[in-house]
Amino acid sequence: MSETIIRIEHLCKTFGTGDGKVEALTDISLDIRKGEIFGIIGLSGAGKSTLVRCINLLERPTSGTVTFDGQELTGLKEKDLRAARHKMSMIFQGFNLLMQRTALENICFPLELNGLRGEKNWREKRAKELLDIVGLPDKADAYPVQLSGGQKQRIAIARALADNPQVLLCDEATSALDPTTTQSILDLLKKINREMGVTVVVITHEMRVVEQICDRVAILDHGVIQEQGDVSEIFTDPKTEAGKRLVMPGGEKIHVLPANRLVRLAFNGATSGEPIIATLAAQQGICLNIISADTRTIGDKSFGTMVLGLPQDETEAARALIYLREIPGVTAEEVTDLVQ
Ligand SMILES: Nc1ncnc2c1ncn2[C@@H]1O[C@H](COP(=O)(O)OP(=O)(O)O)[C@@H](O)[C@H]1O
Ligand SMILES: [Mg+2]
Repeated sequence: MSETIIRIEHLCKTFGTGDGKVEALTDISLDIRKGEIFGIIGLSGAGKSTLVRCINLLERPTSGTVTFDGQELTGLKEKDLRAARHKMSMIFQGFNLLMQRTALENICFPLELNGLRGEKNWREKRAKELLDIVGLPDKADAYPVQLSGGQKQRIAIARALADNPQVLLCDEATSALDPTTTQSILDLLKKINREMGVTVVVITHEMRVVEQICDRVAILDHGVIQEQGDVSEIFTDPKTEAGKRLVMPGGEKIHVLPANRLVRLAFNGATSGEPIIATLAAQQGICLNIISADTRTIGDKSFGTMVLGLPQDETEAARALIYLREIPGVTAEEVTDLVQ
């Protein structure tokens, strides 16, 4: 069994006081091992971002301890904490690049800040190595506005790696990206983990992200860790209600509609989800229920999947299926595997 790099013990975090008091995290205990990819999954508002900010103490826990590589961070003064923080870096959903700086200058930025001034030439050499690692050797002089979402996240990853961190904390790092780009960023995180030995903590609401790259996972629900363990175990046999809700999306609601046939729509970004249902209702008089949706809309395009309940009436159901199958950019298939 490998060594623990981050140990969280009985951590609580409360915001505000009195009536405005929010208990964001309750009695969190977790061990993250050196060299693994650890996932923390939960719905929006579960406390994921708060937890990740408590790990590097951007947020002071109300109680409990965080120990990093044998050093109790919660016991450190701000000055000593700064040094420890350099060993962990973070990437975000919104990339957080400096818009006035080129890709290369963005990557150099933490090296300047951290007092690793050295020679400007040295910093630039390091930044170029990192551009190679993230697969964008020709984007040194590009400004963020000239880059796609996936490219911006690659630059943010390069910047996060500049100072050789031991841990990379990823807060919804792929949540603003389409499925193909998500896949390529996940592959990159995996490569960084395997080849550079960086421990990766992945915070997400997307189960397929955890499924694809994490070794172990913790399920966070309303500020409480409901269960944790190997991804293969938790995802095939969740023990808690919160685990089941996350791992078998739609499973709950489907029990309410046992008689309905279901269709799963996969969106590849060519079209948008909601109007399809509205159009079917308005033009064909056919009402479909949204059973579950894991789609993301960017502009007027949707990505991801949606499960719809077909009408009870067989003729209407058949008409709906024909209509859905003809929409460009949408794959529609009937599903039976979601029903118990
Ligand atoms: N700075 C803050 N002040 C008050 N409440 C906060 C603050 N940050 C987070 N919260 C609350 O803590 C809970 C968890 O939020 P967050 O950690 O952002 O969840 P997640 O990242 O899982 O969506 C939410 O109820 C949120 O409103
Ligand atoms: Mg969050």
